[in-house]
Amino acid sequence: MIRLAGLSRNFGDRVILDQVDLEVAAGEVVAVLGASGAGKSTLLRIVGGLDRAYLGSAQVDGQDLAAMSDAELTELRAHSVGMVFQRFHLLAHLSAAQNVELPGLFGGVQEARADELLEAVGLGGRGAEMPERLSGGECQRLAVARALRNQPKVLLADEPTGNLDDVSGAAVIEHLSSLARQSGAASLWVTHEERVAAAADRVLHLVNGRLETAS
Ligand SMILES: Nc1ncnc2c1ncn2[C@@H]1O[C@H](COP(=O)(O)OP(=O)(O)OP(=O)(O)O)[C@@H](O)[C@H]1O
Ligand SMILES: [Mg+2]
Repeated sequence: MIRLAGLSRNFGDRVILDQVDLEVAAGEVVAVLGASGAGKSTLLRIVGGLDRAYLGSAQVDGQDLAAMSDAELTELRAHSVGMVFQRFHLLAHLSAAQNVELPGLFGGVQEARADELLEAVGLGGRGAEMPERLSGGECQRLAVARALRNQPKVLLADEPTGNLDDVSGAAVIEHLSSLARQSGAASLWVTHEERVAAAADRVLHLVNGRLETAS
């Protein structure tokens, strides 16, 4: 589902990713742990089709990203990729349910799933609320529901518990983790938090641009 081979990314003369190889199978959850500035978001942006200036090969859902046009990449992102960001990126003027339904507007699966997804992240019955009235942890759970709206083949999460206290962070991890497994998506989470990594099937460390197996 996700297959990276010899993936490298430089910014100027700084090597941020150095010949990274990684495969994430359908239904598998892989966490990449790394310090601030290690290149975690850079890695995730490439896999999510948001950064094309890499060397090496990146395949997502069987497609070689480098061979795709911008339009095809947009299509892939809309249909096959769900993303959870550190700072939710919820739309403030849309209700919780509308935020969840948003990816559906971009040609996703047709059936309305907002209620079901809100229920699954512990926000059942709160679909009419505006994001500003939700707590940080609730916003992030809403973002998890939204990422799953189109039944993505690939689920990407960048610091899903960033800025959350222990209790709300734990709830986000629990929901993300159970929905990731139920969905059968290939999940790639990047984080500096051990507690997030602990919920994954496999943990890798990003150090000096290289991915190392946790020892
Ligand atoms: N567009 C860019 N231009 C120049 N340098 C960049 C760019 N994007 C990222 N970098 C640099 O690449 C390095 C890795 O950044 P990245 O955002 O991937 O780190 P990170 O591991 O996600 O860190 P954090 O845990 O703080 O989010 C940083 O030193 C950053 O300054
Ligand atoms: Mg980052």
